[in-house]
Amino acid sequence: MKFQGSEHYIATQDLMLAVNAALTLKRPLLVKGEPGTGKTMLAEEVAGALGMPLLQWHIKSTTKAQQGLYEYDAVSRLRDSQLSGSEEAARVRDIRNYIVKGVLWQAFTSDQPVALLIDEIDKADIEFPNDLLREIDRMEFYVYETRELIQAKHRPLVFITSNNEKELPDAFLRRCFFHYIKFPEADTMQRIVDVHFPGLKKQLLAAAMKTFYEVRNLPGLKKKPSTSELLDWLKLLVAEDIPLEALQSQDDKVAVPPLVGALLKNEQDLTLFEKLVFMQRHNR
Ligand SMILES: Nc1ncnc2c1ncn2[C@@H]1O[C@H](COP(=O)(O)OP(=O)(O)OP(=O)(O)O)[C@@H](O)[C@H]1O
Ligand SMILES: [Mg+2]
Repeated sequence: MKFQGSEHYIATQDLMLAVNAALTLKRPLLVKGEPGTGKTMLAEEVAGALGMPLLQWHIKSTTKAQQGLYEYDAVSRLRDSQLSGSEEAARVRDIRNYIVKGVLWQAFTSDQPVALLIDEIDKADIEFPNDLLREIDRMEFYVYETRELIQAKHRPLVFITSNNEKELPDAFLRRCFFHYIKFPEADTMQRIVDVHFPGLKKQLLAAAMKTFYEVRNLPGLKKKPSTSELLDWLKLLVAEDIPLEALQSQDDKVAVPPLVGALLKNEQDLTLFEKLVFMQRHNR
């Protein structure tokens, strides 16, 4: 099984190499990169391309590792025990009826090989990755309530994404194959845009891309616009039927682009950009 990119997703050579390396090593692929550079989408596309179902686990600050394994639903059990029927009584006696399977359990016991996405692992506290070391390594865990050992039938293909909000522990990193999705260069970006807007007029696209990279390369930006922001902006340009002239200033100077709110997401960046435009206009 080899990943070659897909119809909707442009994968660079080094990204494909990384996916296939993780497949070969049978280790999780840890993907980092700026927000909106296609980390989450990568897992969806690889799973699709390899014909595997994708199980997704979106991590929040409150997520605990145990929730991915299983949870014991004591509340339901208590409630059932207060009902008088014989059916409930039978149910209550067996603790297995109150064990709620988590994503990892589902991935481990699936009959066919699956892909598993652990999205935004850096949102959880520092214990989270450490608590999953054994599960990721040995692909097994123990259910204390029922004294069962759950072992993976097939090793799932694991994707882990991070936005770098927290450092991951070394022991965790050791177990992963790492890939950083670099911000796409102009020609890769062109291919990404083509996938999303196949019919876009060449001139409009060229002007929009020029403006986009100008905005992005402005030194001192707090939040640089990324792929997904460019796509949003292009969508708006098309929807609002913005003429080419609105993107090009005659004297080839930087101008505040129309619908700039799709690209710049805070007032400091907007002010910075307006200042630059102002300075350029008054230099002559
Ligand atoms: N290589 C690519 N090919 C095609 N589309 C892409 C690519 N990279 C990004 N995109 C577009 O950008 C959008 C955002 O991608 P995605 O949600 O995967 O980003 P992310 O890296 O997970 O961001 P975040 O860190 O904010 O979660 C996708 O919906 C897709 O439309
Ligand atoms: Mg994401």
